[in-house]
Amino acid sequence: MTKWEEVKTKDNTYTLKSLKYNECYHSSEGALKETYYKHVSVMEDLFKNKDEIRILDICFGLGYNTFVSILNRPKNKKLKIFSPELDLELIKSLKDFKYPKEFENIKNIIKKISKDLYYKDDYIEVEVANMDAREYIKNLKNIDIVYQDAFSPKVNKELWTIEYFRDIKNILNEDGVITTYSVATPVRCALYKLGFRLYTHKSDLIRKGTIATLKEIDYPKVNFEEKLKRVKCRVFKDS
Ligand SMILES: C[S@@+](CC[C@H](N)C(=O)[O-])C[C@H]1O[C@@H](n2cnc3c(N)ncnc32)[C@H](O)[C@@H]1O
Repeated sequence: MTKWEEVKTKDNTYTLKSLKYNECYHSSEGALKETYYKHVSVMEDLFKNKDEIRILDICFGLGYNTFVSILNRPKNKKLKIFSPELDLELIKSLKDFKYPKEFENIKNIIKKISKDLYYKDDYIEVEVANMDAREYIKNLKNIDIVYQDAFSPKVNKELWTIEYFRDIKNILNEDGVITTYSVATPVRCALYKLGFRLYTHKSDLIRKGTIATLKEIDYPKVNFEEKLKRVKCRVFKDS
């Protein structure tokens, strides 16, 4: 049974549309562009001085976030990437996916992860876990950055609830960061209620999302208190 349709995005890179969730894995503005500006550029910018950067990639999908992080690894720094993904058939199919030409340099890594769900060399370690993200995150610790890239709350609500974000907060380092495309009020509200500071992206090359942190950073602030004078602070909850 067909589970996906191939979609070409505006930067000429390919993504898929999931027929189960009825959503694309990336925004139409560009799979590669979105991955870099929404997630990876923030990792490079904020953690370039750390010897080892620990990334939680929610969820693996086509692996763009993981692969673009590897391609943009800050010089001489180690990356450790943890990524849950329910869809084993998708991971197994990735060795044949039409990735951007930039990914040619890491073809061996893509093939290894697609086959074994694991890769390790002197600088990079990637663990893809074929399990529910909500269970997986409970066993992690000391995460620097979470790429929060599930499908939308409409179809993938379990990965946007306040309970889920509380578990994420528990595994973040003090200077930990969450990056996401979502600007939905219930998502921002959950983060706000949990004590996160809310920022947005610097780049005008993409639709801006949300960057949530526990410490102050030099990014454009979201004036959420102002918004809360007008709207109720509603969150998604586990039902
Ligand atoms: C928007 S896609 C991720 C896109 C991905 N970051 C990429 O670069 O291609 C969302 C992914 O989350 C997976 N997923 C949805 N709910 C999940 C859950 N509870 N636990 C683990 N994976 C889940 C889906 O199978 C899908 O592959």
